[in-house]
Amino acid sequence: MTENYYLVEHPLIKRDVTILRDINTDSETFRAALQRVSNILAAEISKKFSLTEVEVETPLEKTKGFKLAHDVILVPVLRAGLGMVNGFLQIIPEAKVGHIGLQRDEETLKPIEYYYKVPKNLETAEVVMLDPMLATGGSAAEALKYLKKRGAKKLFFACLVAAPKGIEKIQNEHPDVKIFAAALDRELNNKGYILPGLGDAGDRTFGTL
Ligand code: PRP
Ligand code: URA
Repeated sequence: MTENYYLVEHPLIKRDVTILRDINTDSETFRAALQRVSNILAAEISKKFSLTEVEVETPLEKTKGFKLAHDVILVPVLRAGLGMVNGFLQIIPEAKVGHIGLQRDEETLKPIEYYYKVPKNLETAEVVMLDPMLATGGSAAEALKYLKKRGAKKLFFACLVAAPKGIEKIQNEHPDVKIFAAALDRELNNKGYILPGLGDAGDRTFGTL
């Protein structure tokens, strides 16, 4: 579980993941904490982005500067991934945002696609897929497959809580994708929920409990 998997360790992430896990945290507080964790994940993932040198004129003289070499495309997996978009946009405001709608069938735990709208220049962009929960890995593996089929080459996956089973699945099926997680949890229960986890991220973000 080492290659292309990064556990982002930060005191503020540990504090916020605790808030997110807490059953007594309301949706407003949940969204705010998820946004702060997303800020840190965005800063961490973007360390891997390529730069192009540019010339910049200060009030005193010309000097060397940098700009991002490629477009950045964020792709939240609906619904829960939406809760990470603003946190990423605060750090990478020029990013474009595509959407993939996937829902786990609660019986089979298999993902079903119900929506796809992503900018066309996937081939050259740094593509960051967003979904707070990596459980069985079924949804993420499927979404990554769609993105690759449409041309995505440089792929990152940002999640909040990952389970070992999900990481293993992504590493087997998409070894080229860099996974960034804010917490690594123990296991899944028999309904595919992450333990200790935080429950249903979509319901907690949008108050649909
Ligand atoms: C959740 C979560 C992931 C998926 C993870 O979404 O946001 O997309 O489950 O589980 P997996 O790794 O086993 O596929 P869900 O299907 O509950 O939809 P929602 O975001 O609309 O609540
Ligand atoms: N989806 C969630 O929202 N939570 C889990 O623990 C697993 C899948």
